[in-house]
Amino acid sequence: MPGLFVTFEGGEGSGKSTQVARLAARLRNLGIDPLVTREPGGTPLAEGIRALLLDPDRKPEPLAEAFLMQASRAQLVATVIAPALAQGRVVLCDRYADSTLAYQGAGRGLDAKMLASWNHAATGGITPALTLLFDVVPDLGLARRQGAPGVPNRLDREPADFHDRVRQRFIELAQAEPQRWVVLDASLAADELEARVWEAVSAKLPAAARLGVRRA
Ligand SMILES: Nc1ncnc2c1ncn2[C@@H]1O[C@H](COP(=O)(O)OP(=O)(O)O)[C@@H](O)[C@H]1O
Ligand SMILES: [Mg+2]
Repeated sequence: MPGLFVTFEGGEGSGKSTQVARLAARLRNLGIDPLVTREPGGTPLAEGIRALLLDPDRKPEPLAEAFLMQASRAQLVATVIAPALAQGRVVLCDRYADSTLAYQGAGRGLDAKMLASWNHAATGGITPALTLLFDVVPDLGLARRQGAPGVPNRLDREPADFHDRVRQRFIELAQAEPQRWVVLDASLAADELEARVWEAVSAKLPAAARLGVRRA
């Protein structure tokens, strides 16, 4: 089976991590063992970079933030994502290169073409077959995050207009590449979202997996 690369994008508290876990569980029930990872992070080195990036007590310059994101990405792709895809695995990544275009691009105001070029360098051109956009008004996402552990992180604390620009850029990215993106209404209940995620992902899986046929 060829590998399948699925990424989860959207604002803070939109439910990405919840749905990554639910999709992974569903795949395991079908006998598929997905590689589940996240950005920034996903390797020991990249998790160290993540801690630096999300620390509320640090304030990296926009360019420094962008380079740290790309350093994390380069390490994750080279050591985790590319090998897993080469082995034919289903890879689920909680945020990926599109988050850089939204956050460092629209959020911080860095040049979109420059960031796209860096994304290409860091990923070696490895692009998701499917990107799910969890679209929700920032206020709702941020309110959800208040109750979650380990927050607010540094990005949660950005002002409302930052989160509005990020949301808008995600929507533009999805509209520009409709064959790759599926936009989901992330204000829906988690069960309903799970069903819609499955609809989108199962359409990309080989028929045997869709039917729930377990391989020996
Ligand atoms: N569809 C949903 N409706 C309501 N609350 C949700 C939903 N999905 C997740 N949550 C809750 O909202 C918080 C943020 O969810 P999470 O999956 O961590 O979002 P993200 O990874 O996008 O930041 C968590 O406390 C989670 O339990
Ligand atoms: Mg999350």
